[in-house]
Amino acid sequence: AGALTTTFLGHQVSNPFLNAAGVLCRTPEDLLQLASSVSGSMITKSCTVEPREGNPEPRYAAAPYGSINSMGLPNLGFEFYKQFAVEHRGKLLFISVSGMSMDENVKMAKDLLPVAKETGCIMELNLSCPNVPGKPQVGYDFTTMREYLQRVSSVYDAPFGVKLPPYFDIAHFDQAAAIFNEIPQVAFLTCVNSLGNGLVIDVDTETVAIKPKDGFGGLGGRYILPTALANVNAFYRRCPTKLVVGCGGVYSANEAFQHILAGASLVQVGTALHEEGPQIFQRVVDEFALLMRAKGYNTIDDFKGKLKTL
Ligand code: DOR
Repeated sequence: AGALTTTFLGHQVSNPFLNAAGVLCRTPEDLLQLASSVSGSMITKSCTVEPREGNPEPRYAAAPYGSINSMGLPNLGFEFYKQFAVEHRGKLLFISVSGMSMDENVKMAKDLLPVAKETGCIMELNLSCPNVPGKPQVGYDFTTMREYLQRVSSVYDAPFGVKLPPYFDIAHFDQAAAIFNEIPQVAFLTCVNSLGNGLVIDVDTETVAIKPKDGFGGLGGRYILPTALANVNAFYRRCPTKLVVGCGGVYSANEAFQHILAGASLVQVGTALHEEGPQIFQRVVDEFALLMRAKGYNTIDDFKGKLKTL
C-alpha cells in the first residue's frame, strides 16, 4: 500500500481523491472513465426518482476563476444508478441522491439500503442543489433539513453522508452541526456544493454566461476555495464523531493538502476535473506523493486535521 492509501468508514481507498458529484458521472460512459481512472473512489450524478433532462443549454460555463452551472439535475433516474451500484466492482462507490421532495428522498433511501448493505456503496444525500427553479436549498432551512434527516434516517439504518451548501455565518455552522450531531447515521458531511446563485458577465457581449435563471448559477473552482476550507474546518471542529469530505477549488496537490489539513478525509474534484478530464487524478496523486515526501509525512493521518492556528 502506498503512502496515499487511507480508509473511509472501514473501506480502504488507494488515495483520497474522487470526483465531485455531478462531474463526469451521469452516463455509463462517464462512469466507465471514472472507474478506470486513478481516483481512489467515485460518486454518481445526483439522482431523482424519475430521469430528468435538466435545464436548457448552455448550462455550464468556464469562468475566469472557476465555473458557473445551472444544470438542473439532469440524470438517468434512480434505478439506473442503483443498478450501476449492483454491477460495480472495484473502487469504493458513493451514490448521490437528490430527490425533488422529502418523500422522494425517503423512497430512494429505502430502495438503496439493501444495495448499500450488500455492495458497500455509500449514499451521499444532496441537500444543497441551488439550480432547480422553485426548489429552495434544503440546507439553508434548518427546520426542513432536520425533518429530512430524521425521516431518511428512520428508514436507512446504515451510515450515510450529507452534501451541504456553503455556510457563511458562525451561528449557522453551530445550528447545522447541532442537527447533524443528533443523527448517528449521518457519518460524514461533504463540504461544499457550489456557491449558489452567482452571476458571471462577459463585458464584450454584455451578456450572462449560461441560459437558465437569467444567468444565475452555482460557482465552483478558484472562487470558492477559502469558503470550502472554512466549511470543512468548521464542521471538522463541531462534529468530532463524523468524517468530513472536502469539495471546492481543488486543482492540484496544494489545494487538496489544504482541505486535508482543515480536516477532510477525502477530497472531491469538480471544476478542475471538468476542465482537465480524468487524467487529473494521476497528476494530483503524483504531486501529492511528492508534497508528502518533501514535508516528511508517511501517511495521510500524519497531517489530517492538524491545521495550526495563531
Ligand atoms: O452545482 C450544482 N449543480 N449542484 C447540485 O447539487 C446540482 C447540480 C445541478 O444539476 O444543477
